[in-house]
Amino acid sequence: MTQVIVALDVDTIMREEQLLTQLKDTITFYKVGLRLFTAHGKRAVDLVHRHGGKVFLDLKFHDIPQTVAHAVKEAQKLGVYAVSIHLCGGRDMLAAAAEVSPRPKLWGVTVLTSMQDKDLRPLHPQAKVASFVKNLARLGWVNGVDGTICSGQEVMFLRRSLKHLDMKFITPGIRPAGGELHDQKRVMSPEQAAELGIDYIVVGRPITHAIDPLKAAQSILSSMKHAAPHSLEVR
Ligand code: C5P
Repeated sequence: MTQVIVALDVDTIMREEQLLTQLKDTITFYKVGLRLFTAHGKRAVDLVHRHGGKVFLDLKFHDIPQTVAHAVKEAQKLGVYAVSIHLCGGRDMLAAAAEVSPRPKLWGVTVLTSMQDKDLRPLHPQAKVASFVKNLARLGWVNGVDGTICSGQEVMFLRRSLKHLDMKFITPGIRPAGGELHDQKRVMSPEQAAELGIDYIVVGRPITHAIDPLKAAQSILSSMKHAAPHSLEVR
């Protein structure tokens, strides 16, 4: 079943607490990312735990192997469920992070969902998002990463082209049909994500900027419930 992770991309503990109070009976997983963690650190993580939620600490680690391994150890002490790591940090960095034991789940960022082929071109003139995502997903998997963060648009392609890799998919860039895209470019609706059997979707502004965040979350969950999964057909 597809789980919704609500991205708590807010700037105050008060706003975080309001959202947690509204959503706690409906949503289990919350993302604490760069904004909230930079502003409030451990307090922001502890608050989610106090409301009975699980934390995806999305700090997108990308540094030399030892530094990243130490960061993963510290994340374990925070009691978070998962952390993100940039797959383009390479083999040694990924392996060092994966070797930490015990550790949270490691979810690898492929290409940000705010980027398209033309955004990659200045970095890698020949690169296409899809093939780049595929190479990074494979690199993560062989080095012990537990899940791949990519757009929903790449999930089918990855399942077909990396059939032997039984990986979890975490998908941001989720927009209900007709919803505002903001800065996201490679988007998918919650229904489509559920139909594909994507493991986790990360949803921020469609919930946190809604006039009624609880209603927005419930409406996303109910649209997903009615989606017929066909994940087995596309594997
Ligand atoms: O508000 P929105 O639904 O666009 O939020 C998406 C969340 O997912 C943001 O918190 C963003 O940092 C995160 N994310 C992303 N693309 C990635 C990885 C993470 O948008 N590739």
